[in-house]
Amino acid sequence: MSSSEPVPGPSAAGAAPAAAGPTEVVAIDPPSGAGKSTVARLLARALGFRFLDTGAMYRAVTWHFLAEGCAPAECSAEPDLGHARMQLATRSARLALHGDRLFVNGNDVTAHLRTREVESQVSAVSALPFVRAAMRELQREVANAGPVVAEGRDMGTVVFPRARWKIYLDAAPSERARRRCQDFARQGRSVGEADVLAEILVRDRLDSTRSDAPLRQAADALYVDSTGLTTEAVVARLLGFVRGAGGGGAP
Ligand code: DC
Repeated sequence: MSSSEPVPGPSAAGAAPAAAGPTEVVAIDPPSGAGKSTVARLLARALGFRFLDTGAMYRAVTWHFLAEGCAPAECSAEPDLGHARMQLATRSARLALHGDRLFVNGNDVTAHLRTREVESQVSAVSALPFVRAAMRELQREVANAGPVVAEGRDMGTVVFPRARWKIYLDAAPSERARRRCQDFARQGRSVGEADVLAEILVRDRLDSTRSDAPLRQAADALYVDSTGLTTEAVVARLLGFVRGAGGGGAP
C-alpha cells in the first residue's frame, strides 16, 4: 500500500469483470508467513508499482466486525450465524489507503490489524463469500487505476486471472514459523515457535480448503521456494522474473 491515494469503500467499488480485468499486476500468492509482505513491498518499490496488501484489507474488515460486535465468534449462536449483520457491516465499511496506513470509515486501524483478536477471527471472516466479493471488487478497482504488486491468497487464481506476472511464493512451514516468531519478537511479543507452527498449519488448512477462492497455485504461476533464502535474494529473483523473459517484458 504505497499510494497516498484513498480508495473508496467496498460498497462504492465498481466491479471489473475478471475476463477484462487489469493485466499490469504482479500477483503474489503465498501461504501464511511466507515473508510475502516484506518481499512484495520491496518489489513494488523497486518497480515503482503500488503495493496492495490484501491480507491487511481482510484484517481491517475483521476489525470493523469486532467494533460492530458481529465478528464470527460472537455470532455463532445466532440462527444465521450473524451473516445479515455482517453483510450490513461490510456494506458500511469504507476502506481507504493513505501511504502505509489503512483507514475504515475515517479511523486509522493500522495498529490494530495484528492484534490477537483480529488474528483469531480473520480466517473465518476471509472465508465469507460476501466479504470476498467486496474485497475482490475493491482490489480490481485499485489495479485498474495503475500497476500494482498485489499479494494475497487468491491473486493469480481469482482476483487477477489476467495478471501479466504470477508468482506462488512458498516456504517450509518450520521456516515460516521461525520468521513469524522473529516478527513477534520485534513487536516485543514472546510466542513459542511450536505454537506459531501449529497456528500456521491450521490457517493453511483453512485457507486451502475453504470453498470460496482457496489458496492454490495458478497453473501459469512461477513457483518460488524461499526456504533458506534472504529477503534480498527473493526480491532479486522476483525482479528478474518481472523484468526478464519469464515476465513477458520489462515494465
Ligand atoms: O496475509 P495475512 O496473514 O495478513 O492474511 C490474513 C488472513 O486473510 C489470512 O487468514 C488469509 C486471508 N486472506 C485471504 O483469504 N485472501 C487474501 N487475498 C489475503 C488474505
